[in-house]
Amino acid sequence: MGLPLPEKNVAASTLRCTFGKLEIELDVPEGVWNPTPNGILLGELLESMDFSSESILELGTGCGVHAVVLGLRGAREMLLTDIDEEILSHAKHNLDKHGINTKTRFLVADWVQVDVSGYDTLIANPPYCVAGKDYRRYFIDTLILEAHKLVRPGGRIIFIHSTMADSPRTIQLMEECRMTVRILAEKDYPFRDYYFDDQPFMLEMAKVPGSYTVRNGVHHERLMVFEGTLPED
Ligand SMILES: C[S@@+](CC[C@H](N)C(=O)[O-])C[C@H]1O[C@@H](n2cnc3c(N)ncnc32)[C@H](O)[C@@H]1O
Repeated sequence: MGLPLPEKNVAASTLRCTFGKLEIELDVPEGVWNPTPNGILLGELLESMDFSSESILELGTGCGVHAVVLGLRGAREMLLTDIDEEILSHAKHNLDKHGINTKTRFLVADWVQVDVSGYDTLIANPPYCVAGKDYRRYFIDTLILEAHKLVRPGGRIIFIHSTMADSPRTIQLMEECRMTVRILAEKDYPFRDYYFDDQPFMLEMAKVPGSYTVRNGVHHERLMVFEGTLPED
């Protein structure tokens, strides 16, 4: 089923992030996902973009790290979802703490099962290593397949995952959905310790084409931020 929830990823913390010129200090209470290198790289990328006057849907907002950046980068309105009310209350806390006055709605929803449409941009850092699903790509595939219901024609999805989730497969699925694909950012990171705690997981990852590289005995994954622009018709 996947890795156990790594304790340090859900322990209480105060996280200071520097994204370009933005200094952000997030309160992450116990039980809420601490942004990992995935969340940080996505945050850095979003900081370098302009979301002026866009409507944004973020699935699985967690502590709200990206919503803070999107608000500071001009988003006109945001809908932030997660699996429970308490997680969303902490995202709200972090938005308030940073004085984000973008019109924002918080909604408990099961991933893409959100009854909305027409958003300019959908943002996500989908669960994968700790997906809790037998089919580990569930959150990635459903995001791509259902995007047309949530995003307007010509709108886009921006999301991050590791090469361990099979990047060629992601690109192919987006293209099959007639999206125009761009890689907006990519960066290598050494494996996190908890990957090695689960040997079946390691074996599974070894079967994914291009999953990781080992350099000087150190395993590295490559995190990639994908943009898929939906067709106009
Ligand atoms: C990898 S974390 C990303 C959190 C945050 N966006 C970040 O980058 O730090 C995935 C998030 O998805 C949420 N999540 C997990 N399963 C979900 C589901 N079925 N529906 C909605 N959100 C879900 C988790 O609670 C978590 O906040």
